[in-house]
Amino acid sequence: MSKEEALSGDERALLFNPDRDSAGNEITYKGRQCTFRIEDSSASVEVVAGEPIEIVMGGVLFSIPAEAGTHRIELRPRACIFDLDGVVADSAPCHYRAWKAIADKLGIEFDEEKNHLLRGVSRRRSLEIMADGQVELSEEDIEKCMTEKNEIYKGMIATAGMSLLLPGAREFLKKLRRAGLKIALASASRNAKTILRNIGMIDGYFDAIADGTDTSIAKPDPAVFLMAAKRVNAAPSDCLVFEDAPAGVDAAIAGKMGSVGVGPAGVDHADIREDSLEKADVYDVFEFFGRKG
Ligand code: BG6
Ligand code: MG
Repeated sequence: MSKEEALSGDERALLFNPDRDSAGNEITYKGRQCTFRIEDSSASVEVVAGEPIEIVMGGVLFSIPAEAGTHRIELRPRACIFDLDGVVADSAPCHYRAWKAIADKLGIEFDEEKNHLLRGVSRRRSLEIMADGQVELSEEDIEKCMTEKNEIYKGMIATAGMSLLLPGAREFLKKLRRAGLKIALASASRNAKTILRNIGMIDGYFDAIADGTDTSIAKPDPAVFLMAAKRVNAAPSDCLVFEDAPAGVDAAIAGKMGSVGVGPAGVDHADIREDSLEKADVYDVFEFFGRKG
C-alpha cells in the first residue's frame, strides 16, 4: 500500500480495504508502523506507539490513540444506499415540468411548492397528491395521466442526457467503494436504469440496484431500501441511506437504517446533513460506520 493511497491525499486517514488490499501489508504511516491482517471473519491492524492517527478499515473509521495496540473489525458488508432523483441525478425538475404539463391540461393548480410534496413518492401517489381536492379522476383518467406524464418525462431525460449527472456524485461513490463499502441504488423510479445509462453510471458504480420495476411499494415504506440491502447482503443496521426527500428519510428510519439528508429542504431529521454529494465528505460516512463498529 503506497502513501498515495492514503485518503484523498490529505493524509487524514490511512485506508485499508480488506477486499482489495493484501493482508500482511505493512506500512509506516505518520511514523507509526501498521500491520494489517485478515482472519476468518475479521480484519485487524497492529500499530506501534506514536502520535494519534486515523485508519479506515473496510469503510470503518478508527481513531488510534498514542499507545501501541491492535484494532479489529468484524468483516461483514456495510452499505451506502443512494436515492437517484435529487441525489445522484438532477431529474427532479424534469418530474416537476412533466407533472406541470398534466396539471395545466387538467386545469388544476400546481406549483413548485406543492411539488416538494412529490419528491420521492411514486408516480401514482404523485398524481393523487396533485389532484387532491381539485379534481376527481377515474381509474382510466389516472392511467392516462400517468402514461402521458411519463412520455413527457422520458423525452425530457433523453434530451437532458449526461447533463443530469449531479456534480461530485461519481467521485463520491468511487471513494466510498475504494474504502470497501458496498454501494447500492434504491429508487422509486421505473426510469432509474435509463437515467443511470444516460449519466454513464449503469456499470462500475453500484453493487446492486433496486428500483420502481422491482417494487411498487412507495417510500416512506422501506421496501426498496430493504431490497437493496438484501442484494448486497448487508443488515439494515449496517446501511446508510442518502436521500433528498422527506419520505425517503422516513423510509430509512422505518427500515432501521442510518440516513444522510441531501439537498436544501425537508431532510433535517436525518442523522447526517449534506448540501450535495459534491460538498459531502466521505469522512462523515467512515465516522458513521466507526460509531457503529
Ligand atoms: C422518485 C421521484 O425517485 O421516483 C418521484 O423522486 C417520482 O418524483 C418517482 O414520482 C417515480 O418515478 P417514475 O420515473 O417511475 O415516474
Ligand atoms: Mg429523490
